[in-house]
Amino acid sequence: MSVDQELYPLGHSATELGRLELQAKLFEDPLLIHLAQEAESCLEIGSGIGSNWPSLQRANSTLRYEGIDLSETAVTKANSIHGGGRANFSVASATSLPFRPCAFDLVVSKLVLWSMGPAWKTALREAYRVLRPGGLFYAFEPYDQGVVFEPARPAFREVLEHWGQAASLNGIDLCLGPKVPEELILAGFKNVQTFFFPVLAPASDPERFQAICDNLGKFYLGESSREFLKDLNPRTLLKASEELLAAPHGLVMDAFFVTVGEKCLDSVD
Ligand SMILES: C[S@@+](CC[C@H](N)C(=O)[O-])C[C@H]1O[C@@H](n2cnc3c(N)ncnc32)[C@H](O)[C@@H]1O
Repeated sequence: MSVDQELYPLGHSATELGRLELQAKLFEDPLLIHLAQEAESCLEIGSGIGSNWPSLQRANSTLRYEGIDLSETAVTKANSIHGGGRANFSVASATSLPFRPCAFDLVVSKLVLWSMGPAWKTALREAYRVLRPGGLFYAFEPYDQGVVFEPARPAFREVLEHWGQAASLNGIDLCLGPKVPEELILAGFKNVQTFFFPVLAPASDPERFQAICDNLGKFYLGESSREFLKDLNPRTLLKASEELLAAPHGLVMDAFFVTVGEKCLDSVD
């Protein structure tokens, strides 16, 4: 495993960075766009190559944005694509943020906490610290038990379950989404609200159907995922790939939870 892969289970290969870019468009959330329109400053933890920045910038051209990520590869790439102007990307950990208290109106975490192990709870406390009173934390995290193919694609289901079990041995939690609200309350946030966020397509929208299948395939069956699938029967892997390439039929759904919490107005830092 490379150093970058240790920081993030899928690593930061060119293939994975390309997947993150496409995924950001597929998973764009109107609520996050709205929050960006209302904010003057935003910190994104685990910003990767900055794939979420273009839509935030479109939403609010005066938004001051900081992106931090543990991976130097990701940060270098983010700065080369999106740096300058109002966006700045730097290497830092979400568990020890190099910012003063009350520095931001909005802190965003998109698909980051699930891969952090127990440290994700420390990241929520750090987000609280750097938010101004009344500022908002936004989290978008996976719920892979909500991935649905109708009619079922059984080999891919087996891959999902095997991946989830193998990854959980490394502290990775692909069902973290619904666990975020409770932990935000424990971290001191109030007005915590959570929403189910399905990314779905019926077969009548073949382009979106295929885009969702491609993203699932690159994530669960890509080169970097092989570590988690090494004990799985190779025939199941082959069958699962064939299922994802099959013509759109019925419905596909990937599943997430969005949670928003507010820092108390009377918070003392
Ligand atoms: C799935 S990627 C998501 C990137 C981006 N948020 C997006 O939506 O495209 C997760 C990112 O979180 C970063 N990451 C993981 N643990 C971190 C930590 N403790 N502090 C900062 N970044 C972290 C990884 O390096 C990786 O780039």
